[in-house]
Amino acid sequence: MAGIVAVAFADGWDPRFSATNIGSIEQTRHNLTLSYNNSGRASMMDNVRNNYGEVCVYCHTPHGANSQINAPLWNRTINNASNYSIYDKPTTLGLEGRLNLPGPSSLTCLSCHDGTIAIDSVLNMPGSGLSPGGNTRNTEVGSPDMGFLDRWASSNPGMGPVGDHLSLGPESGIGGCKICHNRINDTLVDLDGNPTPFAPDFTAFVIGTNLRNDHVVGITYPTTFGPGIDYNEPEVAIPGKWSFFDSNGNNFAEKDEVRLYDSGAGPAVECASCHDPHGIPSNGPGTEFIPSFLRVSNSTPNSNGIGGPSGLCLTCHAK
Ligand code: HEC
Ligand code: HEC
Ligand code: HEC
Ligand code: HEC
Ligand code: HEC
Repeated sequence: MAGIVAVAFADGWDPRFSATNIGSIEQTRHNLTLSYNNSGRASMMDNVRNNYGEVCVYCHTPHGANSQINAPLWNRTINNASNYSIYDKPTTLGLEGRLNLPGPSSLTCLSCHDGTIAIDSVLNMPGSGLSPGGNTRNTEVGSPDMGFLDRWASSNPGMGPVGDHLSLGPESGIGGCKICHNRINDTLVDLDGNPTPFAPDFTAFVIGTNLRNDHVVGITYPTTFGPGIDYNEPEVAIPGKWSFFDSNGNNFAEKDEVRLYDSGAGPAVECASCHDPHGIPSNGPGTEFIPSFLRVSNSTPNSNGIGGPSGLCLTCHAK
């Protein structure tokens, strides 16, 4: 693929990416062990993040999960919700009183995508790699305990300890993982003089702590519908838990159904309303996941007629 200029492949799977985006999270960008990457060059990564050798552990732990966030067995350090600046154009839309800080189903994603917390900053590292005494657990909220992360010692040579625990990096500019994963590095040339990508560009994936330029999260969704309310009504509403668009009518929130999370203030839009971090097959088991971890495709309908042009947006917006 040498010669292709780096762009964010928003509507399709980045052809330079070596995972297939089919089957399970193991074949997606969210497999931070990179076990799918056979280039050999990716071993460079073992100097910049602990390679725990397990896909789920970067986000979940069976025991001793983060007690400060209502998210499934969450194994990561998170930021305080007040760390984020939220959408601030309420005057045009009458959002007063409905804007809140990001809820749990956004704080999970932001624990990597705000670019401030190390990608490998888990609370519990796998196995019994820790020596007795000292800190045995990472920080739940705030700044990761780098000393704790430094104590990762894998039985697999080359997988740790690494001493360097990068975060994704700043929203613009170079730093963190973007030291290598940036557009500038794409101007490298190979031995034949052809331009060659050094490492895929991550710039588009850093959401940052300023959420003013992103689709609003932490906003409560209307609960009354009808004339003058240009929002669609979710088929199922379970106060205190969530509301969801039950596209197959079975009263269960499947992962390909858009949902609004109720963490106290009413059903709200959060990152996981639109995205499932494990991937959703575009058209039944074994098909390529919908790009960008979206729950519903914004371009191609599946065989049940779900999704299609602006399909995700039109789930909520009656436009
Ligand atoms: C020292 C440079 C460097 C740094 C820093 C770096 N990477 Fe990489 N990364 C690479 C190289 C080189 C590859 C292999 C690219 C290839 O195989 O074509 C790679 C590959 C990847 C891939 C797989 C891409 C693919 O096509 O399979 C992912 C995901 C990734 N890196 C994530 C990260 C994350 C997350 C961080 C920060 C914790 C990070 N990288 C920091 C150099 C780096
Ligand atoms: C990149 C982070 C990440 C990785 C890696 C990850 N998950 Fe998750 N997982 C999440 C998030 C975030 C949620 C909560 C989604 C929400 O808010 O509804 C979740 C939710 C879940 C749930 C609850 C039901 C659901 O789907 O919402 C299960 C079960 C689960 N994950 C299992 C796994 C397993 C098993 C693995 C490894 C094969 C894994 N996850 C890997 C981020 C991750
Ligand atoms: C453990 C850290 C981590 C967590 C938690 C996490 N991500 Fe990611 N995510 C990454 C990294 C690293 C990349 C970029 C990897 C790459 O490009 O190779 C990425 C890429 C993505 C992409 C781009 C995929 C594409 O094909 O365009 C989306 C979308 C995304 N994440 C959404 C989410 C959402 C939504 C959540 C929460 C439900 C979440 N992520 C949680 C680390 C994380
Ligand atoms: C209302 C739906 C919605 C919400 C809420 C949402 N996203 Fe997205 N996100 C999308 C869509 C659609 C894309 C596909 C990119 C495009 O078409 O521009 C996307 C793309 C992304 C990407 C890939 C970069 C890119 O520009 O393609 C990342 C990373 C991401 N989202 C993370 C998040 C995080 C983190 C949150 C919460 C703070 C979030 N998203 C909230 C709909 C949403
Ligand atoms: C889960 C439901 C949901 C989905 C899916 C969704 N939105 Fe929204 N969107 C909202 C809510 C709620 C608001 C807050 C505005 C309000 O309530 O008046 C909003 C606000 C907006 C705004 C107005 C922001 C402003 O201040 O002018 C735009 C534009 C928008 N969404 C576009 C999109 C697009 C484009 C998509 C598809 C990528 C999308 N939305 C998907 C629920 C959703």
